[in-house]
Parts: sequence; structure tokens; C-alpha cells
Amino acid sequence: MTQSIQHTVHIDLADRSYPIHIGAGLLAQSALYQSLPKAQSALIVSNTTVAPLYAASLQQVLQEKYAQVFTVVLPDGEAYKNWQTLNLIFDALLAQACDRKTVLFALGGGVVGDMTGFAAASYMRGVPFVQVPTTLLSQVDSSVGGKTGINHPAGKNMVGAFYQPRMVLCDLDVLQTLPERELSAGLAEVIKYGPIADSAFLLWLEQNMEALRARAPDALAHAIRRSCEIKAWVVGQDEREAGLRAILNFGHTFGHAIEAGLGYGEWLHGEAVGCGMVMAARLSQLLGLVDEALVQRLQTLVQRAGLPVRGPLLAERDNAGRYLELMRLDKKSEAGEIKFVLIDGCGKACVRAAPEACVRQVIDACCAV
Ligand code: NAD
Ligand code: GLY
Repeated sequence: MTQSIQHTVHIDLADRSYPIHIGAGLLAQSALYQSLPKAQSALIVSNTTVAPLYAASLQQVLQEKYAQVFTVVLPDGEAYKNWQTLNLIFDALLAQACDRKTVLFALGGGVVGDMTGFAAASYMRGVPFVQVPTTLLSQVDSSVGGKTGINHPAGKNMVGAFYQPRMVLCDLDVLQTLPERELSAGLAEVIKYGPIADSAFLLWLEQNMEALRARAPDALAHAIRRSCEIKAWVVGQDEREAGLRAILNFGHTFGHAIEAGLGYGEWLHGEAVGCGMVMAARLSQLLGLVDEALVQRLQTLVQRAGLPVRGPLLAERDNAGRYLELMRLDKKSEAGEIKFVLIDGCGKACVRAAPEACVRQVIDACCAV
């Protein structure tokens, strides 16, 4: 059983601690599921793209543990990360008379994972759930750390809960079917960990970007492991984002404005974050926190990952004003003041406000004309 686990990273949160297993073929390893709570039933939550690829394997292995295994298939896409789709999970749980011990399995990318986690947090006031992330982005970020939720038309991830999974299974094999564009989007969240926490990892990424884009298993395993280790280190100290955890949102303040401004799903989350990181790095440089060379290094790496580095125009007149309006909705904002995650020397981040004139200058310089 353990042969194909390449790494296990632990999230240490007292009685809410759990393992993240990383390796090839994990999804079908029945022994991995034995430590989960006993229950009569399990519900696999997936979507129209992932379910046909992997739900049967997961169903088969779960049937060894649970008497009843149900599946609910959601529509695919960020545009469906909303109340209506969330309700489909509750409908399925209630239709199958699932009880408060039923275990939910999120089989999909971040959209499925965030919604399944939120459903698990609220069904009968909380049932156990497991993350089986199938995108690179969800393996390195969204499945880890317990942020769950849905979007509101007025802002991204505005409704949700902190709710930790019992286990995360990062199966490297499933990444082979991921579309190229989605792989690149995942690489944005991998790159993020370098400038905010680990300059050696940034260097490793510069040396291994081709291998990652070619999906070399060893390169993927290392990138996922290091990303999860950094995330575990942050979440272990600040589960509910009282302070430190905000650094994981590097690039997200600009990125969320791009996603909301264009309409969810137009740019992928990772694409918006990739471009947002370049903008945040430029802002850091303007404020004297990093030099031009680091901004250039990051921009080149984001570009090599296959991601956009110039922001879209969100308004014909006063584009910067539209970005600012959208960024004020960011959850880090306090009393309308936007807080940015900035790089304070390579491998270190800080969270602070910035003069509006500087933010406007960055947006004007970084957006397509
Ligand atoms: P996604 O869930 O939309 O998945 C991307 C696409 O890939 C989808 O079409 C999906 O069906 C398809 N797909 C998934 N796995 C596949 C596979 N193995 N083979 C083929 N196709 C596959 O997007 P994502 O990038 O995984 O996640 C983005 C979401 O994650 C956003 O909603 C974002 O807000 C959220 N997020 C949450 C956190 C968190 O901490 N909770 C962190 C980062 C991002
Ligand atoms: N993706 C940001 C966080 O988990 O805090």
C-alpha cells in the first residue's frame, strides 16, 4: 500500500490534524481509506468532466468500506460555484437519507472541493469530508487548509466556512488528463510559495519549469510536496487568517478583481493569480520593498508557466478606478482600505495598505491597452 505514497505532509491542528498523501495511483489504494471514520454511507461529489474519468474507481474502492456509496455530479465551472449548485449536494444527501456520519468525498478541482467542504460544514451542522483533488491547483492549495465556500455575484468566495477535511489524497496520475491551460493555472499557485516563503523553491521552479509543464512525475511530486509543506506551516500557525495566513493571498487581490470584473470563468483563477502576482510584485517594487530584478524574474517565470502577465481592461474609462472598486470588496479590506500582500525581499511577505496613486500607477502600467 505505502509503495506509491511518495510523501506525506501533516497539517497540525490539534484534534483537526490530518495527512496529505502525495503519490501515484493513490485514489484506488483501499488501505488509505481505512483510517477514516466509520459510517453507513458515503457521497462522492464530482462534476460532469471529472466523474466520467475517476468516479467509478473511487466508488469501487469506497464500497469496500461503506455499505452505500452515492455520487452527485455537478455542472462544471467556476460560474456554477453558487447557491443553486451547492443545493444539489444537499438535495442528494437528503434524497439518500444520509445521516450525520455520512462521509463526503470531493473528487475534482478547487470548485468541487470548496463546495463539497462547505456542504460538509453545514449538512446536519457538520459531517466528515475528504479531499481528492484532481487539478494541480487543488493539490497544492485549495484542498489544504479548510477554506470552503461559494461565490456571490458581488465577490468571490464571499460565503463560506473554515472546515478541515479528514484527509487529502493527491494522486499524481490524475494530473495526466488535465488540460494544458489548467496545468498552467495550477502552476501560478505553486509559484506563489517561492516569493512569499522560500527563495530556494523559487530558484528550483526556475530550473524545473519545463519538467513541470511536461508533467514529469518526480518534478510534480516535489512541487506539490513543497507547496503543501509551506501551506501546512502557515495554516498550522494561523488557521483562521487572523494574520499570517493572508500571505497565501499573494496576487489574489488583483486577481480577484480580474475574475470578478471579467465575470467568473472568463479567466481561470490561476491565470488571474499569475497576473496578479506580477502586479503585486510591481507594487512591492514601487514601494521600495524589492528590486526590479525580482519583478522581472517573477514575470518571466509566470510567463514560462504559460500564464498571462498583463491584466485585462475592466473598464474603458478609468480602468484603474474599476480595479480599485472591485478590490475594496476583498476580504482583507478593512473599512474600505485595501490591504495588499507584498514581497518584502525574496522569500518574505508582508500585508499592508498602499497609496492609491501607486496602485493606480501599477494598474496603468500592467494592463493591456
Ligand atoms: P476547477 O475546479 O474549475 O477545475 C478546472 C477544470 O479542470 C474543470 O473544468 C474541471 O472539471 C477540470 N478537471 C479537474 N480535474 C481534472 C482532471 N484530472 N482531468 C481533466 N480535467 C479535470 O478549478 P481549480 O483551478 O482546480 O480551482 C479553482 C477554484 O479553487 C476557484 O474557485 C478558487 O476560488 C478555489 N480556490 C480555493 C482555495 C482554498 O483555499 N479553498 C485556494 C485556491 C483556489
Ligand atoms: N488559498 C489561500 C488560503 O488557503 O489561505
